[in-house]
Amino acid sequence: MRSGADCDPGPLFVEGEGEMTGSVVLDVQPVGGVIGAEIHGVDLSAELAEETYGAIRAAFNEHGVVFFRDQQLTNEQYEAFASRFGEVLTIQELRKEPDQTRNVGESWHVDMTFREEPPMATMLHALECPPRGGDTMFSSMTHAYASLSEGLQRTLEGLYAVHANVRKLGLSYEQTDPPEPSVADYDAAEGVLHPVVTRHPETGRKVLYVNAEYTTRFEGWTRRESVGLLQHLLLQGQRPELTCRFRWSEGSIALWDNRQVWHLAVNDYNGMRRVMRRVVLRGTRPAPALDSVRA
Ligand code: SIN
Repeated sequence: MRSGADCDPGPLFVEGEGEMTGSVVLDVQPVGGVIGAEIHGVDLSAELAEETYGAIRAAFNEHGVVFFRDQQLTNEQYEAFASRFGEVLTIQELRKEPDQTRNVGESWHVDMTFREEPPMATMLHALECPPRGGDTMFSSMTHAYASLSEGLQRTLEGLYAVHANVRKLGLSYEQTDPPEPSVADYDAAEGVLHPVVTRHPETGRKVLYVNAEYTTRFEGWTRRESVGLLQHLLLQGQRPELTCRFRWSEGSIALWDNRQVWHLAVNDYNGMRRVMRRVVLRGTRPAPALDSVRA
């Protein structure tokens, strides 16, 4: 387990040579200090043996986001690979044309946390990449939580937060830069409640579960009262040492775990085309880190 100097959430499994599940050893190369890994030597167009799938899943849990290179996949093969990880909710194209200036997902967020059961994972396959720019960034909320003081961790473990799509964000480029809603809009927004600290269902680790796009306020607090603490947590989650940045090339795949990472699409490629194939996988209701918080 890699760890930042002050934010070690503890080991997930014992490391050997490579990362193993059963008899399969994958070539897994960590990308950032605490998040992200590239997996080499796997052809995702082929039907994966159960053990290979298990090893990829273990790397996905461990690193929060995994990357593959040079994958030539039909829609059917792409969907078949995604289906190994969970039920496919949507599969669609994400396209920015040279005459468009807006970008989907250009601030830190977690996909659709305004739902009671937010998507478990999201995957992108690069079909056409700009010659430069258009990277995607990821940040580890497991390590963000671990980097907080014990006192703040204890306080957060008792809290729930409201998640709502107040800005009506969506996948169309017209929906990506709406005007900032008023404080009253935030207070009035009906959303869903999620624990501020969740327990990852597979790793058992604690995760800081707030994000800039959809967390509007703490339960029982007004928006104004919430903003100070929320802002502190959102800044904490953006610390560069918690992040990694993926440079796309055609055929690259990124598969990330919405239960433990934030992501952000860097919008620095105006005048160029970028086309991605995106899959979203069904998730479950986020569980609180402390069983005693709510029945
Ligand atoms: C997204 O937010 O799902 C899009 C990420 C990207 O295009 O890099």
